[in-house]
Amino acid sequence: MALSFDKNGILKKIKNVKSFDELEKIRLEFLGKKGIISIEMKSLSQLSIEEKKLKGQELNLLKQTLEEAINNQKSLLENNELTKRIEGEKLDATLPPNLIQQGKIHPISQTIFSVIEIFGNLNFSVQTGPDIETDFNNFTALNIPAHHPAREMQDTFYVKGEEKENNILRTHTSPVQVRTMLNTKPPIKIIVPGRTYRSDSDVTHTPMFHQVEGLVVDKHSTMVDLKSTLVTFLKEYFEIKDLKYRFRPSYFPFTEPSAEMDVAYTKKNNVITIGEGEEWLEILGCGMVNPKVLENCNIDSSIYQGFAFGMGIERLSMLKYGIPDLRSFFEVNYKWLEHYGFNILDLRSRSGI
Ligand code: DAH
Repeated sequence: MALSFDKNGILKKIKNVKSFDELEKIRLEFLGKKGIISIEMKSLSQLSIEEKKLKGQELNLLKQTLEEAINNQKSLLENNELTKRIEGEKLDATLPPNLIQQGKIHPISQTIFSVIEIFGNLNFSVQTGPDIETDFNNFTALNIPAHHPAREMQDTFYVKGEEKENNILRTHTSPVQVRTMLNTKPPIKIIVPGRTYRSDSDVTHTPMFHQVEGLVVDKHSTMVDLKSTLVTFLKEYFEIKDLKYRFRPSYFPFTEPSAEMDVAYTKKNNVITIGEGEEWLEILGCGMVNPKVLENCNIDSSIYQGFAFGMGIERLSMLKYGIPDLRSFFEVNYKWLEHYGFNILDLRSRSGI
């Protein structure tokens, strides 16, 4: 007795199934408790013994065939899905590495790198000195004798319990001038980035801050060299070709004559634009090295002369990167660093060179 449905048609339908849902629907339709085969099985009771046997065998065979076809199709779908997933996870070794950000470079470090890079290109080398200094290096050799009012200008931290010679936290990076001149013969051409300390704390002062010092000593360095060096530096640093600047006479005990350098700026809607405008911002102090300082460091001032300069790293950093608050540099605020910090590979592109 023939079955009332088309077995080959069903098998074909199963082979064309594309999703697990669709396959499950077909399984329920034919093999489920209320499925076609169950219903057919139930109707066997109305048949004669002979017919029952025949149709029963046929139904069982059909059930087996469908089960097999459905299971095969299921395996096929599972395989396809796995292949797709593996393809999606394939690693292309020719792609650039996916850098995982783990930290940022602090703007102070970034500024120091930039300063070193620019002066490095002008043939300066980098010198460093200790944070704890002698009174002689920090003051006396720089022509700031005891009781000189300039000592009062820089509120000094005295280190208790240290030997008398090493008893202050340096108030500027200038003592490294002294250390270098005492230890090297001219020509000297150095910059000195580093930490400095003054007992001062308000909106525009922090007890620890950073400076970069510069010193050139040889037989012929002049005020013109001083000016061209500093102008070149600031134009490179701020990436401004037509930087508007001025030199203003000033006083420092260790230079004679002394000057301060200002750059022009404008302020609109609380945003500062450097290099143009009618307002002036003081950027650095400088001058020709006072012959007394050369003599204090055993350099013959009748043969040698030089120039020096000093500037604040925080100020350079705030102006270039638009950082409004000095104290934020030292608050160890991770969100701040996320915002103002630099990625490792940004070094050159953000340094202004
Ligand atoms: N040492 C000075 C300060 O801390 C900065 C300075 C000015 C350094 C003039 C110099 C210089 O070398 O020539 O304010």
